Amino acid sequence: MTNQRLAVSLPGLELKNPIMPSSGAFYYGLDHLDDFDLNKLGALVLKTTTVQERLGNPQPWVIFNQAGILNSVGLANPGLENVKRDFIPKIEAALPELPVMISIAGETVAEYVLLATEFARFDYIKALEVNLSCPNVDKGGMEFGVDPESAREVIAAIRQVTDKPIYAKLSPNVTDIKPIAKAVEEAGADGIVLINTVVGMSLNLASRSVKLFRGTGGMSGSAVHPIAVRLIWEAASVVKIPIIGVGGINTVDDALELLLAGASAVQVGSANGQDPLIMSKIIDELPDALDRYGFANIQDVTNGLKPLPEDQASWEKEQNND
Ligand SMILES: Cc1cc2nc3c(=O)[nH]c(=O)nc-3n(C[C@H](O)[C@H](O)[C@H](O)COP(=O)(O)O)c2cc1C
Repeated sequence: MTNQRLAVSLPGLELKNPIMPSSGAFYYGLDHLDDFDLNKLGALVLKTTTVQERLGNPQPWVIFNQAGILNSVGLANPGLENVKRDFIPKIEAALPELPVMISIAGETVAEYVLLATEFARFDYIKALEVNLSCPNVDKGGMEFGVDPESAREVIAAIRQVTDKPIYAKLSPNVTDIKPIAKAVEEAGADGIVLINTVVGMSLNLASRSVKLFRGTGGMSGSAVHPIAVRLIWEAASVVKIPIIGVGGINTVDDALELLLAGASAVQVGSANGQDPLIMSKIIDELPDALDRYGFANIQDVTNGLKPLPEDQASWEKEQNND
């Protein structure tokens, strides 16, 4: 039975709760059908799919450290035709009722348009997540998401060819997220997903060389959580479209914090690697967590953040929860 306190209604996505995997966290979901009943999720977000199959960057793809994960996967995926033929029908057969969002990434605007056109033909796919922010590829990816005009161009071109809800997944690797968030809203995006990974680097002292083939990779996990909070808060101050928050969620409190920053729903990525049941646990813990902090429902969290304190005295009062 749906707990109405947890339900969230977003363009194209009727979520029974605000929790979904981030793109890449669950690949196409099929290898995770035995982890727990995936129907429990708010939605399923599929791996970013490109026009051609991509084998990804040379290994290692992932380096773990105390603060999270540095990855250099490079959008490895089976490509448009294989996903249409082999993956979507299987996912639909296994999870016919679950809202599904496909993530797409092109090397050119024309490729984004092709991917959107092709996937929009599937009634089963409820929304498109447009990845404008992968830091691990040579062409396309992040370059579209770090400039307002390029981001606008991609979203406007996709808007021309489909009525399917469009969620623009933006990059944290920018000095100011606000003009980019506004540009995708003006171009017709129905929502924003924030954040993708933060560009980082790791070195091998013994060999005096880089640990990842491309040198840099994308940082995710606990280290990026405060960065996600900040960017969601900044974007929420300038757009009216809903934001799906992602970045460093390991606990129910982490999820609530992204919601309080202004997100309407959240995605969990890296934490699934340590604990495949993490999303199921967070969903179970949400009602008690809402009670603990005195929220009536999820919307109450999204709209609940107080403005910045006007002076030190009022800030100190807030810290004591007076
Ligand atoms: C191994 C790995 C693969 C990822 N693949 C994708 C991807 O295909 N598309 C995408 O938009 N983001 C991808 N991401 C980024 C995540 O979806 C998410 O935005 C980021 O990891 C921050 O969330 P987290 O801290 O919960 O992991 C990937 C992240 C990791 C660690």
